[in-house]
Amino acid sequence: MPARSIEQIRNLCKRRGFVFPGSAAYGGLGSFWDYGPLGTELLNNVKRAWWRDVVYKRDDVEGLDAAILMSRKVWQHSGHEGTFQDPLVHSKKTGKPYRLDKLLSEQQQPVVAKLFQAVVMQPSNDSRWQDFARVLTYVTPEEAKDDEYALAQAIAREQSGSYQIDPSNRDAYVNAVIRLLNKSALQPECVAFGVTVDAIAKYLVRGSSQNLLTSAGVVERGDTGQTANAADWTEARRFNLMFVSHTGPVEAAAGTAEELASRVYLRPETAQGIFMNFAHVQRSLARKIPFGIAQVGKAFRNEITPGNFIFRTREFEQMEIEFFIKPPQFVREGEKTDVQWHDEWIKQRYEWWLGLGVDGQRLRQREQAADELAHYSKRTVDLEYLFPEFGWGEVEGIANRTDYDLSAHSRDVPEADLKRLKLEPNSDSVEKFDYFDPDAKARYIPWVIEPSAGATRAMLAFLCEAYHEELTKEPPQAEVEAIKAETPAVIKNAQKKQKDAEKESDPSKRKRDPAAIAAFCTALEEAATRLPQSLLEINALLEDHPGAQNLEPVKKLLPKVGKLAEDCTRVVLRLHPTLAPIKLAVFPLKANKAEIVDIAKRIKHQFQGFFRTVYDDSAGIGRLYRRQDEIGTPWCITVDFQTLEDNTVTVRERDSMQQQRLPMDQLKDYFLTRLHM
Ligand code: GAP
Repeated sequence: MPARSIEQIRNLCKRRGFVFPGSAAYGGLGSFWDYGPLGTELLNNVKRAWWRDVVYKRDDVEGLDAAILMSRKVWQHSGHEGTFQDPLVHSKKTGKPYRLDKLLSEQQQPVVAKLFQAVVMQPSNDSRWQDFARVLTYVTPEEAKDDEYALAQAIAREQSGSYQIDPSNRDAYVNAVIRLLNKSALQPECVAFGVTVDAIAKYLVRGSSQNLLTSAGVVERGDTGQTANAADWTEARRFNLMFVSHTGPVEAAAGTAEELASRVYLRPETAQGIFMNFAHVQRSLARKIPFGIAQVGKAFRNEITPGNFIFRTREFEQMEIEFFIKPPQFVREGEKTDVQWHDEWIKQRYEWWLGLGVDGQRLRQREQAADELAHYSKRTVDLEYLFPEFGWGEVEGIANRTDYDLSAHSRDVPEADLKRLKLEPNSDSVEKFDYFDPDAKARYIPWVIEPSAGATRAMLAFLCEAYHEELTKEPPQAEVEAIKAETPAVIKNAQKKQKDAEKESDPSKRKRDPAAIAAFCTALEEAATRLPQSLLEINALLEDHPGAQNLEPVKKLLPKVGKLAEDCTRVVLRLHPTLAPIKLAVFPLKANKAEIVDIAKRIKHQFQGFFRTVYDDSAGIGRLYRRQDEIGTPWCITVDFQTLEDNTVTVRERDSMQQQRLPMDQLKDYFLTRLHM
């Protein structure tokens, strides 16, 4: 079974040098992480595997490494300065910021439904109605009586400017919308957790949200995941996610002409660097459409609620391809359309993840709903991984960006195209990003299919997938029974502490969190039913739960659990060998036998020019194997006394733990073949 919690991965990453909290000596800096020796290797391997697949193995993709800081005009014309925003509210009680759409989707259904009703019932004659008009597209005519549907559609038509509702009859129209939504088969999802949560959030940032949120009983999420009391909320507003900086020495106040003239943004996506270089790459390498440009690099987003370890961070790495294709009107018989290219990239990218060891049960394709689509997208399919605890999360998005971006950055775009793409003419650009198609004998602005993956997020998914705790041998039955028998005493003792903590009515004065103790008891009780498979889990619970080690029954139980876990279990990262940070570890059976040590070091030396190889003699062989299993090293070599006689060594394979003897002169072939080198 892969990882059960993100905490397991976070602990492993810290313990074994994959990922450390950033700026730790000063208490850390919200959701910035430093990649340690093994994390750097793993992340590099993820990026390398991607590059090999999308650049080296293809004939139609070139690489690029563009600057992180780009002219502000890039982000104005790409639409990011105006629209790369999330809805933000603060709790007046705790001062904590929340992303309103995420906050609403965490609320109980009745709370959101109440809020929705309150919003819809607001008499309104402003443009905020358009969000709700869009909801109507989720109601089919069969779900409505004709007159209701007609009434509701009138609201939609009013938004497009083709119809004027009689203001004195507005209530009739509003009620028709509510009746329709109540009838719709989509109503539960629609009202509680679906599209309308976004619509409500969008509405609220444009109108007065404060009273509505408070009166609907929208609650704050506690640190432990428990819902806290209903909070008072500030007005919702839009918050731009781009980090601002300046080029050159500027001391002007924000928003002044001088400040704006020197303002730059740290790129929130690597894609725009590719669009800026479309013509350079196409001309310098005489590329014909279709072709793509791939780039790996840092991106920065001032996320309102970063979290889940390295899943959502403010600094991260992306692996993006912009694949330039013919616009639909130039596609000839037998050539792929934008729809076909899009489907092909979705398939190829999905298979890339599977090929690196992700199980298909934990990887899915999800079609983005119409109101989720970014401003540039005709269609986007997300690849989502089933993470422990928080569930499905996007690891890659494959979008059909049409000719939006290249048109947005071009001068002299025909009026009709500007209208179609909802773009303003660009008088800042000196380029027209078009292409002369020798087959069609015409110039056009290419369309783009964009597979965009997060490298750091991919690393988390691969770690979760690879993490396994398992028995290496069957522990003695009597010792397992003894642990089972002692667990209730731990739970009883912890429950007593929980009651003591609850006696203090002021939560801020409590030394322990009763909810956390209750969760500990539930987890321990459940894990005990799965012994001996859960030995490592129980060990972690007893070691990590704050204060647990002070409980008398834990003092008795923990050494027994620890000993049995040490003898009979292992943590193993079943990483694909291509991704494994260290490919090979070499051990001498005796660290004080010079000839054995010498051979082991020579073997390490033989491979270190090809891939990361380590030599270790700091513990017994069994412990050395377990240390390498825990970091995902696929092979270990042990040099022993027999080596001195017949020049063979023991090669041990991580997943099966099987050992075989191989002649030393066959090692190079053996490993280079297995690593496809
Ligand atoms: N150019 C398109 C684009 O940037 P996106 O869906 O916003 O699209 C693409 O981002 C990928 O980047 C996501 O699928 C995710 O893997 C990664 N990503 C986005 N925001 C992230 C964050 N705050 N932390 C880590 N990875 C992130």
